Amino acid sequence: PDDRPEDEAERGLRVADRGFLNTAVIESAITYIDGERGILRYRGYPIEQLAEKSTFLECAYLLIYGALPARSQLSHFEREVLLHGIMHADATKFFGSFRYDAHPMAMLTSAFAYLGSYYGEANPSLQGQTLFTKCAKGDPEALQNMDKQIYRLIGKAITLAAMAYRVRQGREFVVPPTGMSYAESFLYQLDHLSPTDSFSASSSASPSPSPYKPHPVLARALDILFILHADHEMNASSTTVLQTGSSLPDPYSAVAAGCASLYGPLHGGANEAVIRMLVSIGSPNNVPTFLAAVKRREKVLSGFGHRVYKTSDPRSFIIRKIADEVFAVTGPDPLLDTAMALHDAALKDDYFVSRKLAPNVDFWSGLIYRAMGFPMDFFPVLFVVPRIVGWVAHWRQMMLSPEGVKIWRPRQIYVGPSERSYVPFDERE
Ligand code: ACO
Repeated sequence: PDDRPEDEAERGLRVADRGFLNTAVIESAITYIDGERGILRYRGYPIEQLAEKSTFLECAYLLIYGALPARSQLSHFEREVLLHGIMHADATKFFGSFRYDAHPMAMLTSAFAYLGSYYGEANPSLQGQTLFTKCAKGDPEALQNMDKQIYRLIGKAITLAAMAYRVRQGREFVVPPTGMSYAESFLYQLDHLSPTDSFSASSSASPSPSPYKPHPVLARALDILFILHADHEMNASSTTVLQTGSSLPDPYSAVAAGCASLYGPLHGGANEAVIRMLVSIGSPNNVPTFLAAVKRREKVLSGFGHRVYKTSDPRSFIIRKIADEVFAVTGPDPLLDTAMALHDAALKDDYFVSRKLAPNVDFWSGLIYRAMGFPMDFFPVLFVVPRIVGWVAHWRQMMLSPEGVKIWRPRQIYVGPSERSYVPFDERE
C-alpha cells in the first residue's frame, strides 16, 4: 500500500499469504499428497500398501531414514525405541504435580518440555548447536547422538501418554513391558492392573500383577491407526516443530511446541467434534434435519471436508475397514447407525458433492477410539503419539540439510500508523 513507510516500500515484493494457503516452507522428500486424486504416499509408498503390509515402527523407520529397513535394521530400531520407553523415576514425581483433572494434552506438552531437562547432549546451551552442525557434516558420532534423541522421543511418547492417562485415575504408572510391539506396549501401559490399583487391591487375587496381553485385533487396529496418522506433510503441528526447531533448541522443546499446536480444536480436535455432533443428532431419523441446518450454515458437518483433499481422504477408506474389525470385538458403537446414515446421505447430497466435501480421517477415528474405551479428551493424544514420527522425520531432514538450517523468520505487511510523536498525558484527547 502507498502509505507504507518508504524504507518498507523500497524493499520490493512481499506476498501476504494468510494461513499459508499457497506458501511452501520447505522442500521435502518425506510425504506426498495429491489432494485432487486422493493420494497419500510415505517416501513413495502408497498409504494403502503400508497400512496393509507394514507396521507402525517400520513406517517410522521409513519416514525418518527414507528407505524400508532390512530385517536387522528394523530389529535394531524396534529394540532401541522400546528400550527408551523407560522413564526416570523422577517423572513419577513430576506427573504427581498435575491436577487430577488436567487435560492429557496439557500434561503431555509439559512432559516433553520436561524431558529436555534430562538430556544435556541435545541441549543447545551445552553442545546442541555443535551437535547439529556436526550432524549436517555427517559426523558418525553426532548422527548416533541424534538417533538416540529420536529413539527417546518415539519410545517415551507412549510411556508419557500412558502416564497422562493414569494420573487422572490415581493409578500407579506401569513400567514398559518387554516382548511386545509398540501398540501392544501402549495398550499394556494404559490398562495393566498394578498391585496397588484400588480395585485390584481389594480383590482376593495374589498381589503380583496378572499377566495381561492386549487384544491382538485391537492392538493391530491401533498400529494401523498410528501408521495412518504418522505424517501428513506441512500440517500446523509439523510446521510448528520446524519453526521452533529452526532456532536450534533441543528436539524435546520442538516436540513440546508441536504438541501445543496439535492440542487446538482446529487441528487435533475434529474427531471429538464428530462424536459430539453424532450425539447431538441422536438417531438416523434426525439426519435430514441436521443436514438442512448445515446447508443453512447453522451447523458444520464435522469429519467432512479437508484443506488439501478435494475428494475422499484415502485414509478414511482404511479407517472404515478398521472400524468394522474393532466393532466385531467391542460390539458396535450406538452412534454407528447415525454415522452411517449421515455419511451416506451427505455423499448423495448435491450441496456436499458440488463443494467436493467428502469424509476425512476424523469421521470414523473417534468412533473407533470410543469403542476401544478411550475418553474423548484423550483423542488428540492418540494423534500426537504417531505424529511424533512425522515431526522427527521433518526435524531430522531439516537438521541434515546440506545448506544448513536457516532460522524461520517470516515477514509481515505493516498496516499500522506511520511515524508519530509521543503525546504527554495532559495533551491526549
Ligand atoms: N460442513 C459444511 N460445509 C463445509 C464444510 C463442512 N465440514 N467444510 C467446508 N464447507 C463448505 C464451506 O462453507 C464452503 O462453502 P461455500 O463455498 O458455499 O462458502 C466450501 O465448503 C469450501 O470450504 P472451505 O471453508 O473453503 O474449506 P477449507 O479448506 O478452508 O476448510 C476444513 C477445510 C477446515 C477441514 C473444513 O472442511 C471443515 O471445517 N471441516 C470440518 C472439520 C473437520 O472435519 N476437520 C478435520 C480436517 S482433517 C484433519 O485436520 C486431520
